[in-house]
Amino acid sequence: MTIASDLPAHVAIVMDGNGRWAEKKNRPRTFGHQAGVKALRKIVEHSGRIGIRNLTVFAFSSENWKRPQKEVNRLMDLFMRALDREVKELNENGVQVKFIGDLTAFSPELQKKIESAMLRTANNERMTLNVAANYGGRWDIVNAARKIAEAAVAGKIKPEQIDESEFARRLALGENGDPDLFIRTGGEMRISNFLLWDSAYTEFFFTPLLWPEFSPKALDEAISIYRSRERRYGLTGEQIRQQST
Ligand code: IPE
Ligand code: IPE
Ligand code: MG
Repeated sequence: MTIASDLPAHVAIVMDGNGRWAEKKNRPRTFGHQAGVKALRKIVEHSGRIGIRNLTVFAFSSENWKRPQKEVNRLMDLFMRALDREVKELNENGVQVKFIGDLTAFSPELQKKIESAMLRTANNERMTLNVAANYGGRWDIVNAARKIAEAAVAGKIKPEQIDESEFARRLALGENGDPDLFIRTGGEMRISNFLLWDSAYTEFFFTPLLWPEFSPKALDEAISIYRSRERRYGLTGEQIRQQST
């Protein structure tokens, strides 16, 4: 079925605008990041409630290290505290938590917390929350290319066997597949190196709402716009309408 009348199975979100939200209130940017964690909590709960199977959120990009050291440090603190606080409840609610990105850049302590959150929730099936941390779409593609090269050198794959599906299963999202709906808050209309490969045929939704303002109601609105779209994948509208009858 190509018309997007169904609920999107996989939603990806660029949670942007925390800093500007705080600045508007004359508060430090970190205050915005704190509010961002609260907004995420509500969106995860709501996504579970309405039956979204996969939620992938951009929490920290491979480029965000270039921010002032103080902001980076506060973000790392916030990630640690959020993991301490939220994982128990996520687990109780059947949420499997995964992290995508190059985790080796994080402190050993944070890596440990991330590992333990993933292990603890590994068997949950209600919903998957993929947290993109130190993630970059180009890193992801290069990483998959490296894995394929290693497999080729080890004689496990021949160059002629390399196709889109062999490549895609080595990407960070692996079997979680491509997002159906990509939401970016904060008003910017760019990908900022998020899921480059995976969003080839994803539906985009941009909103000027800053991330801390993005509510369950706003998510419902984005989904309702998504459901009114026709996903054509290169076919004609007529072909699509024939398929769906
Ligand atoms: C997104 O909000 C959160 C992270 C990148 C960690 P920003 O911090 O980018 O907020 P703005 O875009 O400066 O308002
Ligand atoms: C994208 O937001 C990354 C996250 C939301 C984590 P940025 O604020 O880093 O993106 P740019 O710099 O405006 O493109
Ligand atoms: Mg930003």
